[in-house]
Amino acid sequence: MSLPLYPGPAPDARPPERDAFRVLVAYASKHGSTGEIAAVVAATLVEAGIRADVMPAADVRDLAGYGAVVLGSGLYSATWLRDANRFVRAHRAALAGLPVWLFSSGPLDRSADLDDIPMTTHVTGSIDGLAIRGHRTFGGLLRDDAPEVAAGILSTHRTGDFRDWEAIRRWAREIGAALG
Ligand SMILES: Cc1cc2nc3c(=O)[nH]c(=O)nc-3n(C[C@H](O)[C@H](O)[C@H](O)COP(=O)(O)O)c2cc1C
Repeated sequence: MSLPLYPGPAPDARPPERDAFRVLVAYASKHGSTGEIAAVVAATLVEAGIRADVMPAADVRDLAGYGAVVLGSGLYSATWLRDANRFVRAHRAALAGLPVWLFSSGPLDRSADLDDIPMTTHVTGSIDGLAIRGHRTFGGLLRDDAPEVAAGILSTHRTGDFRDWEAIRRWAREIGAALG
């Protein structure tokens, strides 16, 4: 389902060609934290005067009407979630004709704040053939009550919220500027 964050101003408030431009921010998220990043990216674009919809990648039927796409996924075992990979496969032809930005969210430490962490090789394979305008890795979130923690299968991960909201907003503003 589409969640239009910016219904648009009254007619004549802005040039018509700008009103026609919409950005889709699609995401794949198992525990919700990547969806929250996607919502902030979309809200930041809206603040920059760009219409943006945010929705789960699995809910996107087609890209008609969109002038650019931002796609993000949580990382699990260095791999994007299935919904993000399916999104790329299903919309490959349309994505080839649009400016596309990607983000991964995952590191459960401050490493993403310190360095520009490149796409994992799994992710590079998933987006093979697409011309990407940019990619960022943001820190992730793992709650103490996550089932994986309870199951004790994550000895190497720590829990906590490592998302850097200012870095996320800054990146979204860069996208807005590139589109502007
Ligand atoms: C089973 C499991 C495997 C994970 N593997 C990785 C990984 O390979 N690389 C990474 O950076 N983060 C990894 N993480 C951290 C998640 O990417 C992080 O919790 C992220 O914020 C989850 O996004 P989501 O809440 O949208 O599902 C893993 C987390 C779990 C629970």
